[in-house]
Amino acid sequence: MINKKQNLTAITIIAYVMLILQISCTAKTPTDLSKESIIPKPVSITATGDNFTLNDGTGIFYQGESEEVKQIGQYLAGRLKPATGLNIEVKSVASEPKAGIYLTLSGDTKQGDESYELVISKNLLILSAGSPAGLFRGIQTIRQILPAKIELSAKQEGPWEIATGTIKDYPDYSYRGVMLDVSRHFFGVSDVKRFIDLISYYKINVLHLHLSDDQGWRIEIKSWPNLATHGGSTQVDGGNGGYYTQDQYSDIVKYAMERYITIVPEIDMPGHTNAALASYAELNCNGKATELYTGIEVGFSTLCTTKDVTYKFIDDVVRELAALTPGPYIHIGGDESHSTKPEDYIPFINKVQEIVASHGKQIIGWDDISAATIKPNSFAQHWANVKNANAAVAQGAKIIMSPSIKAYLDMQYDKSTKVGLHWAAYIELDSAYNWDPATYIPGVKKENVLGVEAALWTETITNMNDIEYMVFPRLPGIAEIGWTASPLRNWDEYKGRLAKHGNRFKAMEIDYFESKLVPWGGVK
Ligand code: ACM
Repeated sequence: MINKKQNLTAITIIAYVMLILQISCTAKTPTDLSKESIIPKPVSITATGDNFTLNDGTGIFYQGESEEVKQIGQYLAGRLKPATGLNIEVKSVASEPKAGIYLTLSGDTKQGDESYELVISKNLLILSAGSPAGLFRGIQTIRQILPAKIELSAKQEGPWEIATGTIKDYPDYSYRGVMLDVSRHFFGVSDVKRFIDLISYYKINVLHLHLSDDQGWRIEIKSWPNLATHGGSTQVDGGNGGYYTQDQYSDIVKYAMERYITIVPEIDMPGHTNAALASYAELNCNGKATELYTGIEVGFSTLCTTKDVTYKFIDDVVRELAALTPGPYIHIGGDESHSTKPEDYIPFINKVQEIVASHGKQIIGWDDISAATIKPNSFAQHWANVKNANAAVAQGAKIIMSPSIKAYLDMQYDKSTKVGLHWAAYIELDSAYNWDPATYIPGVKKENVLGVEAALWTETITNMNDIEYMVFPRLPGIAEIGWTASPLRNWDEYKGRLAKHGNRFKAMEIDYFESKLVPWGGVK
């Protein structure tokens, strides 16, 4: 409300005051760390029955001289400031302080870069990890064990208490992603940054941007400028569209990186390419540019796979994109190429895989790419066809699990959902939560799975409120599937924890779906 919409009416002021009262009034002093509602659920929590209080004497101390750790400390101070009003100092120290918040890289990375440990006593909160990514993930846990009002953007009364004890934590899967389709409808840099902030709260570590499709090309390519200026000029239903300049894309990459989130850029091909085919006549087999497209059909477009210029085009696009993208992956789409002959599709994917490799990146493709000869260091993103997933595994590739009937966030919750589609399924929260990537596809074992990814296609999603409504609260559940090992996951227990995030969603001004399956009323 306050930040997103400027003109506050009396009614919204009253609503905001009521929200603050609702979020802040009923909190009791927390003394049992094991009762806190942390999502994703940590590996282990031991409670010691006391509490730590954040106040105007609290400092954030970090061990040594690392600029990166200092920035993480400043990020934490920045998160705590609006609601507490505290200007917490971030200081380097040589050894453990007696009191305050202490960030240290003295942990190990035996359980991966993102593992961390929190040891909270009455006067000192120690967050240790073996790498900065682990410190960042641990900070999300600190946010979640503070009162929900910590997320409000205006100053609140304390106390700012945290129950004492120890949390040891690390993720089950190293890849926990979410895809945002910025092609069907375009979302600008500030929306993407808000999205990154919201997903980072649930320890998501990959943002896959679906940058091109029939309806829009969303990234500036300097060697093929019409892609963005013409191909990006519209969107579904004919709005204005838009695109990211390379500087804007780099700004998104940096913002994500500061939150230990890898950007995976997708250029979908050879199908889903009408925006490119409309921008450059030579990419079409008949040499004629197509019209821009603002509908929502699929499967009607294809790059001309038999022309040399097509591969020059792909090489240029991948070269420019790879140079802007520090992460290891370029996603090449490859789905629903119904207008590409199978005898053309296979050599096309094989060639594109070589092009991507020549620019130092690994490919991810939708599971359809398993029809080609994919390299063992390529990844197939399972969305629909279990045979495709098995075929990828048979070639030594790993799978990213995005089953459309579980993890497609554009699928409606139920028949009453106003936006979204239901071609795969209606997906209520229990269904989105109740599945296991390690057993989901017979023949695909845990060691064949890189991780999970939720996907938000945006044919019907036009603004940030719609994004939030479809993503929340299903994404926290998918994030937990990726982070928390399956023996620790249980829907009945999870929904109680999720209920307690209702006030956090409200404090963060997230327009979430209040599923009847969740006991929201029981929130503290
Ligand atoms: C897809 O949903 N076409 C990957």
